[in-house]
Amino acid sequence: MDKFLLEALSGKRTERVPFWFMRQAGRYLPEYRELRTSVGGFMELCFHPEKAAEVTLQPIRRFHMDGAILFSDILVIPHALGVTVTFAEGEGPVVQQVGCEAHIDSLTFKLEKLSPVFETVRLVKKQLPEDVTLIGFAGSPWTVACYMLEGPRNKGKDFPHALHYAKTEPVLMQKIVDKLVDSTIVYLQQQTDAGVEALQLFDSWAGLLPKDQFEAWVIAPTKRIVSALKESHPHVPIIGFARGAGEYAGTYVRTGIDCIGVDQHTDIKKVISLRANPGQAVQGNLDPELLMRDKTGALRQAESILKTFGNAPGVFNFGHGMLPTTPVEHVAALCDYLRQARRA
Ligand code: CP3
Repeated sequence: MDKFLLEALSGKRTERVPFWFMRQAGRYLPEYRELRTSVGGFMELCFHPEKAAEVTLQPIRRFHMDGAILFSDILVIPHALGVTVTFAEGEGPVVQQVGCEAHIDSLTFKLEKLSPVFETVRLVKKQLPEDVTLIGFAGSPWTVACYMLEGPRNKGKDFPHALHYAKTEPVLMQKIVDKLVDSTIVYLQQQTDAGVEALQLFDSWAGLLPKDQFEAWVIAPTKRIVSALKESHPHVPIIGFARGAGEYAGTYVRTGIDCIGVDQHTDIKKVISLRANPGQAVQGNLDPELLMRDKTGALRQAESILKTFGNAPGVFNFGHGMLPTTPVEHVAALCDYLRQARRA
């Protein structure tokens, strides 16, 4: 049976454009909200293999996307490094601040803390329809470091402390990034050994970095992660998603990634023309707010995105995660549309 997503990520032109959505498992689904009340903290859900597998499969049962994304979070890596991570109800992550050299040196990656995640992968694999590709993921070092450096008082999306630290403490910043690169490689290798078939690196805060630091904290770490995975698992495609970094797309496409994720503020046509090679796939980039507000407008935008892909290997997605207030019926209409849209 065809796995359209895996084929597109491997550079093939599929008879229709495959689709999956960032945050496709989550609060817009009533069955997620219901299951969520059965556990205390959000991290507890991430480390409960049966429940995390169930949440991974919930959107597939309803909408049969071409990809299922493993249910977990990017902050499980700091947790495995010994950093305290909790989620305050309605407030998002609360992460212990890391910054002084002695603390950085003491961070030790304990892979066994993440073994429930690999168990989730194995459980999902047993239940996944055979045409659906299982996607594993990790946060990119810069984005994960943002949370570790900003500390528990972080409420906004600006990360001023992390940006200041990256600029003024390059040696310590490099130490943190090195630890994150090494742990991320092992973590993704283990997800792959457990059964994921494609990987996405989420660099959600890449767009905050000025040009002179983008190379050090986004490009170089991404290249190291990608080349290690290409060596150990050459057939597993990697999607790189550096949100807000459209102006650097010409450099980012040359990190070895198989597919470039594009946010809704970036011109996907321009990214297609910048690709490192014609087999490199492009993923994106419906505005998540548009689907929440305006179903017809979103279907129109979806049609235009499919047209823009043309013959390039494309993967339909949002430009960022789906919003918790998105009506389920709008998601259903979008999936129906995408499933019947054949290529010319
Ligand atoms: O469906 C999926 O995409 C898979 C699961 C997934 C989650 N988080 C579940 C989640 C994935 C891939 C992530 C990645 C993630 N986590 C990122 C990168 C993508 C992005 O959104 O930029 C980031 C920055 C995080 C860190 C994080 N986790 C934040 C900032 C928050 C709070 C914001 C919010 O939406 O609540 C989370 C919590 C979180 N991660 C939830 C879910 C479903 C909601 C928590 C809940 O249910 O109480």
